[in-house]
Amino acid sequence: MSFQTLPKVELHTHLEGCAPPAFIRGLAAEKKIDISGIFADDGGYAFRDFDHFLQVYEAACTTLQSPEDFRRLTMAVLEETAAHGVVYMETFVSPDFCGGGDLAAWKDYLAAMEDAAQEAEDKLGITLKGIVTGIRHFGPEACKPAAKCAAETFGDFITGYGMAGGEMVGRPADYAYSFDMAREAGIPLTCHAGEWGGATMVAETIRDLKVARIGHGIGAVDDPALIDEILEKDIVLEVCPGSNVVLKAVNGWNSHPIAKLRDAGVKVTVSTDDPPFFHTTMTAEYAMLHQTFGWEEEEFAMLNKTALAAAFCDDATKARVA
Ligand code: ADE
Ligand code: ZN
Repeated sequence: MSFQTLPKVELHTHLEGCAPPAFIRGLAAEKKIDISGIFADDGGYAFRDFDHFLQVYEAACTTLQSPEDFRRLTMAVLEETAAHGVVYMETFVSPDFCGGGDLAAWKDYLAAMEDAAQEAEDKLGITLKGIVTGIRHFGPEACKPAAKCAAETFGDFITGYGMAGGEMVGRPADYAYSFDMAREAGIPLTCHAGEWGGATMVAETIRDLKVARIGHGIGAVDDPALIDEILEKDIVLEVCPGSNVVLKAVNGWNSHPIAKLRDAGVKVTVSTDDPPFFHTTMTAEYAMLHQTFGWEEEEFAMLNKTALAAAFCDDATKARVA
């Protein structure tokens, strides 16, 4: 089976985290920013653990300084993603990295991203939608302008609100104000949880932030009552196995809980998170799922059906990419 050409739906990527290292190195050289310390000898990103990953990620983001930089980034990312058969992709974009949470600046950045997304759709047949993202370790106050940006720009391109970043900073309830603001604006919600914080963090996120999807969510595997709740509430998990393996959220592919969760009836989907950071692609994720769990075309078709149903875009877009 050619995993590369199989049409795929991907719900969990971070736009800046999809930046090829050569692209970031190029921007750094143009702007004379010294971030040589974030690269390994082989040219890839270098980090020791999750906290260091977040620092390297943010250092890479310092090179992205204008709407034009984000237009070029969006195009570069979509060219790479489309080459792996992805026909629909949702990506987290943070106002914190696009004008520091200022609404007028955010709108300029967004226009540039949308422009590139349209060009990529016309040329490559891949559809991109954005999920405005608060960064948890920047704190609850910093997430409020992000939610306001989401509420003010929710529409065709911006389809959701979410939160990424250091999961062990604060409790989900600390961020309820932002999620409430987004929910009241009618925006679909997702939040990273259960990548590091186990079943308790997933349960609190569902209870206090009332999200439709959970980013990662793998910690739920340890709590049968929580799995029942996930089934009952029809919550979808955006699972990123390659990311979990490289960041050591799990011990390895063989012990990754995605198969157990799927066997329990949980709606799982598969994404790459930040592919160049984790030396992965959607093709590689499928190949590893095949190798580790014996998943075949039938399982992959189900993953994509689940992902498209859980996508935050409107039904017309779903019908077009199906
Ligand atoms: N931002 C980018 N990648 C992330 C991840 N895996 N977890 C939390 N925040 C992130
Ligand atoms: Zn993520």
